[in-house]
Amino acid sequence: MSAMVNRLAVVGATGAVGQIVLDEIQRQGLTFEDIRLLASPRSAGKEVEIGGKRIVVQAISPEAFNDVDLVIASTPDDVAAEFVPWAVERGCVVVDESAYYRMQPEVPLVIPEVNPDHVAEHRGIISSPNCSTTQMVVALHPLRKAAGLRRVVVSTYQAVSGAGLAAQQELTEATRQQLEGKLVKPQNFQHNIAFNLIPQIGSHRHQGFTSEEIKMVRETHKIFRDDTIHINATCVRVPVFIGHSESIYCETKEPLELDEVRELFRNAPGVELIDDLGASNYPMPTTCAGRPEVFVGRVRKDLDNPCGISFWCVSDNLRKGAATNAVQIAKLVAEQSAAARS
Ligand SMILES: NC(=O)c1ccc[n+]([C@@H]2O[C@H](COP(=O)([O-])OP(=O)(O)OC[C@H]3O[C@@H](n4cnc5c(N)ncnc54)[C@H](OP(=O)(O)O)[C@@H]3O)[C@@H](O)[C@H]2O)c1
Repeated sequence: MSAMVNRLAVVGATGAVGQIVLDEIQRQGLTFEDIRLLASPRSAGKEVEIGGKRIVVQAISPEAFNDVDLVIASTPDDVAAEFVPWAVERGCVVVDESAYYRMQPEVPLVIPEVNPDHVAEHRGIISSPNCSTTQMVVALHPLRKAAGLRRVVVSTYQAVSGAGLAAQQELTEATRQQLEGKLVKPQNFQHNIAFNLIPQIGSHRHQGFTSEEIKMVRETHKIFRDDTIHINATCVRVPVFIGHSESIYCETKEPLELDEVRELFRNAPGVELIDDLGASNYPMPTTCAGRPEVFVGRVRKDLDNPCGISFWCVSDNLRKGAATNAVQIAKLVAEQSAAARS
């Protein structure tokens, strides 16, 4: 179904996620009469192309939201904290990618394949979850629906683009410097990212867990509306440009046969199963980058626990982890407003 918006604003249009939002708007057929592209004063005056038209980026200001119906926003948390109220006061509905509003009780946290019905509860703001949460929840959803979900143990291998454009540039530069034998000074990470793994994403938050790990727990509970699921996450930054990978072990409430698990993944909306170990066929960041699905492979039953299932999950963090999901939510909002008007 095509969705139509009168005036759309994309905030953070020059960023790693914002650029993909513009592509996803076209790919998913979210149509608009008019579009406004906003970013920091650094980008004001730059031209960005969407649908063959060149649009001049404007600096964000309260007046920039006058007459706007729908906003898709991908900015740092502190920026979202300031501008989102300007937009809501002017009657806009904001789909926000930042972490700032995600855990506020009146803000729905939505993955359209999982909890599309939560969109209708919004009071002006709808949040899109953290990239590592989104792909895990999309993959776990069919298993939970079929057999309940008791426990999840997840280790992530997260690409540098999860930390924005500057972090992507840092991986290129750090790799070059390291190959030239130079000392690398990290800017966007705690340590040199080239040829390295960093077992810290975010800040120290709670009992030895990082903020990213705690987000995976709390956001999953909020989306499923079930805080009885035991979730233990370890988040690791890896020197990959695009595509987060996750090793997921979960325990369902009822046992599932391996064939059933594979069938559930095969039929799940938004999931693509690539699982042929004999042919060395499984999802990897290089083969999943640029695609909107959540990819699952290496599916196994626990050797001892009849309710235990292991699998490998990869998704483009800038697509389903961010822009694809936000544009899907925006389409739901546009379709609901159209239905309310008719
Ligand atoms: N990257 C991911 O995989 C991912 C996934 C899920 C969620 N998110 C979230 O999405 C948001 C954006 O992430 P990103 O990776 O796209 O970051 P990014 O590449 O650093 O882009 C940030 C965007 O925000 C704009 N911005 C920064 N400061 C601003 C200000 N003071 N006023 C107005 N605009 C400002 C930037 O504009 P300029 O170009 O003018 O500086 C740029 O367009 C973050 O909250 C992030 O946590 C990211």
